[in-house]
Amino acid sequence: MTRDDAWKTFDRTAADAGRTRIVDQFAADAGRLERMSVEAAGLYLDLSKQSWTREAFEACLDLARASDVEGRRAALFAGEAVNLTEGRAVLHPALRAPVGADYQALGEPVSAEVDAVRAEMQAYAEAVRSGAEAGATGKRFKAIVHVGIGGSDLGPRVVWDALRPLDPAIDLRFVANIDPRDMAEALTGLDPETTLVVVVSKTFTTQETLANAEAAKAWLAAALPEDGLTKHFIGVTAAPGKAAAFGCGRTFAFRDWVGGRYSLWSAVSLSCAIALGWDVFEGLLNGAAALDDHFVSAPLEKNAPVLLALAQVFNVDGLNRPARTVAPYAHALRRLPSFLQQLEMESNGKRVHRDGTPVTRQTCPVVFGEPGTNGQHAFFQQIHQGPQVVPAEFVIVARTHEDAPESPLWSNALAQGQALMVGKTTEAAKAEGLAQGLSEEEATRLSSHRTFTGDRPSTAILMERLTPQTLGALIALYEHKTFVEGVIWDINSFDQWGVELGKVLAKAILKDVHDGGPSADLDPSTAALMTRLMQ
Ligand code: F6P
Repeated sequence: MTRDDAWKTFDRTAADAGRTRIVDQFAADAGRLERMSVEAAGLYLDLSKQSWTREAFEACLDLARASDVEGRRAALFAGEAVNLTEGRAVLHPALRAPVGADYQALGEPVSAEVDAVRAEMQAYAEAVRSGAEAGATGKRFKAIVHVGIGGSDLGPRVVWDALRPLDPAIDLRFVANIDPRDMAEALTGLDPETTLVVVVSKTFTTQETLANAEAAKAWLAAALPEDGLTKHFIGVTAAPGKAAAFGCGRTFAFRDWVGGRYSLWSAVSLSCAIALGWDVFEGLLNGAAALDDHFVSAPLEKNAPVLLALAQVFNVDGLNRPARTVAPYAHALRRLPSFLQQLEMESNGKRVHRDGTPVTRQTCPVVFGEPGTNGQHAFFQQIHQGPQVVPAEFVIVARTHEDAPESPLWSNALAQGQALMVGKTTEAAKAEGLAQGLSEEEATRLSSHRTFTGDRPSTAILMERLTPQTLGALIALYEHKTFVEGVIWDINSFDQWGVELGKVLAKAILKDVHDGGPSADLDPSTAALMTRLMQ
């Protein structure tokens, strides 16, 4: 089947899908739950509450086949230049492969180097934890300040929040924002003698990170002997020369085939490996590697990242639903929506195909979310009753450390999915009002306000416990899902030209400010804003 034919069938089945309510499709297709659920690397995905009929589901799989998901997956794992605007391989799976693997980037073997950096990281992390690697005045490190932004920040933040002990022996704080308040908050209560600063930047040119690294350096320099500063200053980068020139005493490197938003498996997570312990970091890698194995070997119809991607493509392109909300029902996963915003929107928020021609369909939806149950009391009103349908994704942990065994936490997640799908008719709403003692007139008047149309899709992703392994698998699941969507949309998921223009203009505006005011070629609105801000 050609891609064009596959898209045509996709469109036809999508148009038909709305005719049968999701809840009625279970009766129409006895195998629905089994067909539309999958297990992978400790995760269970239920996609049976999506809007697709059996026919539409099959059409989505045909679209994946016609888009050559399998061929493009093989190219990624073979280290071909799948990031074709930058001529780079994309090999984050190599970073979490077992020691002794055999990955190649553009034909060059890389696994030995990956193993060597991992061994260096482990030795350093263990030395910091044991106190063998100490600060300039001989004191043990008690805190790490991780400085980085975007992909050099969001992944390690998710990992730390998800897996941190309540009372860690080594505290870990993150600074990303160029607003000095961020650094000021992070440094509050810390002692320079016992603080390690890890500066993470793939390029080592990012304005925010360099400004924050300078601020951290000044803070350390005010309290420490000058010749001891380097012991407190570690770089993680693909540009080791720049990190050394900046004053990092030690540098952990990674290569340009590691995309920023796919980099948490590299030395980018050094601070987590130190603060959580090496076993935890290794568990995270192992969980992701297990998901990699699943992704490369499971047939498309039972392939978790593929099915998750297809549900999204179906919602966005088939049913014109250009947003998705993600609600992790585990407080420890509260950073997941922020991480996914970068992973998905920076990867797939693209307007041209790989060959540069404009896309003719939708690509990445808006991704947003809050942890459950907080989101329920904020924007879920709109998800239940707003005129536009926003698909929801519930990430559910069966047993969190603190939750009661009967789990009010995941009970709420199930209730949300059920309410979205089943809804409440106007008749039922009226009967409820009457049962509550309202008059006939009042019950009738309120019934439309209390009606839920239902038939709104959701996906559930379950894990028994949030462990390093299941977290690694979950993040890898989302990475591969993002890749599969890019394949179906025929876009390059691995560049991010869209962030460049703003960076260039910010420099020009800063120059204008230094020069005393707006330059003549600035548009009237921006010039007036600048003038106001300068007053
Ligand atoms: O501005 C976006 C971006 O380029 C991201 O892609 C990247 O993760 C982030 O900036 C940080 O870049 P670096 O690691 O080079 O400092």
